[in-house]
Amino acid sequence: MSMTTARESGLKGTHFLDFSGWTSHEMNTVLALANELKQKRAKHEATPYLQGKTLGMLFDKASTRTRVSFEVGMYELGGHALFLSDQATQVGRGEPLSDTARVLSRYVHGLMVRTHAHANVEELARYASVPVINGLTDDHHPVQVLADFMTIFEQKEQLRGLTLCYVGDGNNMVHSLLQAAALAGMNIRVAVPEGYGPREDIVEQARRRALSAHSEITITHDPLLAAEGADIVYTDVWASMGQEKESAQRLDDFKGFQVNRALLDSADRDAIFMHCLPAHRGEEVSEEVLEGAQSVIFEQAENRLHAQKALLVALMGDHR
Ligand code: CP
Ligand code: NVA
Repeated sequence: MSMTTARESGLKGTHFLDFSGWTSHEMNTVLALANELKQKRAKHEATPYLQGKTLGMLFDKASTRTRVSFEVGMYELGGHALFLSDQATQVGRGEPLSDTARVLSRYVHGLMVRTHAHANVEELARYASVPVINGLTDDHHPVQVLADFMTIFEQKEQLRGLTLCYVGDGNNMVHSLLQAAALAGMNIRVAVPEGYGPREDIVEQARRRALSAHSEITITHDPLLAAEGADIVYTDVWASMGQEKESAQRLDDFKGFQVNRALLDSADRDAIFMHCLPAHRGEEVSEEVLEGAQSVIFEQAENRLHAQKALLVALMGDHR
């Protein structure tokens, strides 16, 4: 897939807050471009597609992968990235997001935002005149899932028709996985303890999309049933950022929802194990599975770089 095709995807100048506005063609175009950029990087070929462009990166929460992959990604595309924490900017002192968005739009060509309420990125997007990228909110983590789907395609050479099993908390990761699976025609089974399910409206929206893609969405409280014959087994932490005070209660409530050898053995024998990281060994996943031969966690982490570079070029690039 060439850069021209990326431009023709129609994503230039748009925001990326979740997958709801995307078509499967747009997803495939960005994934193909990500693959092209990965190959060029391996050959040390320069890819200066964002020369002279700056990405502002607003962080209200901690990050290792997101910060470093976006920053290195901009550098490798010939551009520049600015790390802006809430504490070091006037955002932390209460300057309205509407003003922040309009001011930063006068300096930068794109904004990447990691924050708490999803409404924050929506407000920034409403006022910014440059593309806004969601780098994780309480409700969605779409850039992670973009890299995850790139990883799945590399491992399985297809997306459509596969079955992904997610075991754990019905959190931001699940919401983005549900949206992206429905888009790609992938079946998804989500196993959560009672009271920890994904948001109903997001499940319903994904179900409507899955209908036309002929894929299935299952929400259950039975991890073994969800994992049976699955091609991918995915989990994430039981307490997300901002939920630290609930950690002890959650440890109790999520008993029986650990991805361990027994659970992985009920999946397809060639199943891969995925986790967005950071992981809590011995909680949502056993050490054995995390470090085992089926685990592709570091491929996922690496692909954050390639997938996000493709996204940046598609949203912010204007030549080549
Ligand atoms: N997976 C992920 O987004 O990692 P960070 O919190 O380190 O950015
Ligand atoms: N669900 C986790 C994902 C971290 C990348 C969180 O929001 O903390």
